[in-house]
Amino acid sequence: MSDQRVDDVLAPNLTFEGTTPYEDYVRASVLTGLQQPLSDDPGELAFLVTTQVMELWFTLLVHEWTTATAALRTDDLPTAMAALRRSLPELESLNASWKPIARLTPAQFNAYRSALGEGSGFQSAMYRRLEFLLGERSASMLVPHRGTPEALAALEKALTEPGLYDEVLRLLARRGHTIPVAVLDRDPALRYEPHPEVEAAWRRIYAEPDQDPDRTGTSDLVRLAEVLTDIAELVWRWRNDHLVATRRAMGARPGTGGSAGVAWLERRAAVLVFPELWTARGHV
Ligand code: HEM
Repeated sequence: MSDQRVDDVLAPNLTFEGTTPYEDYVRASVLTGLQQPLSDDPGELAFLVTTQVMELWFTLLVHEWTTATAALRTDDLPTAMAALRRSLPELESLNASWKPIARLTPAQFNAYRSALGEGSGFQSAMYRRLEFLLGERSASMLVPHRGTPEALAALEKALTEPGLYDEVLRLLARRGHTIPVAVLDRDPALRYEPHPEVEAAWRRIYAEPDQDPDRTGTSDLVRLAEVLTDIAELVWRWRNDHLVATRRAMGARPGTGGSAGVAWLERRAAVLVFPELWTARGHV
């Protein structure tokens, strides 16, 4: 056979009845039709695409942590662990997405900033669901979404259901660890507040590797604690990378969303995710 004939035999299909199966699955024409910059500045597209890419990662993370939360509720630790472990490289990819806009100068950012009007990532409904799952909750965060009923309904549901850490602590209680009733029956619509008895439970879990089911020297609850700590660390990194990118791009100016900007983000970044997993370490 000639080289040309061999190439033809090995080549992918070229003809399809209608749209390609790739298009049917990926909806690429929808996705790549969503980039509509608001200014003439050539740098704006990098800002818009980075933001859209982050929305997709938020969506995937919400999916993984919702899966894990539901699995924990039914004591299905393997399914929960698989989802939590999948979320680690996804979080790392989310964090790597900062790169194209991590070092904007104020002049570069100002070239399209005014075109954003009052638009701010603070108004991201998917990021808010992600924070709700992690325990950073408040009914006031629903207010910006009153104009988008679908997003509002999803957020209301997320606010009134126990989050990932709530289900982790319920699992610990079912496994015989002392978790106060005030924590187990807490109002899920409020921000999770750390409790000394939860810290004591984690301290005991970390100190007792003898409950080892697989003889690896580490109990399944320690493995759960460690994957949660990895998640908390990577979320903290996202918040800090965001803070530094913001400080570089606009210093102490107020945010487009109306906050004090860097000063407000600093306070958000200072909040620990799954707080007792960090404080317990000082007492093991
Ligand atoms: C250099 C580019 C960026 C700057 C200067 C910036 C600035 C800010 C500021 C000042 C705030 C506080 C709220 C406000 O007043 O607007 C904020 C919040 C926020 N931004 Fe950005 N941002 C940038 C990029 C991004 C990107 C790419 C995303 C991805 C979606 C994002 C997501 C968020 C989120 C989710 C919040 C709310 C955080 C929270 O509720 O704790 N930001 N941003």
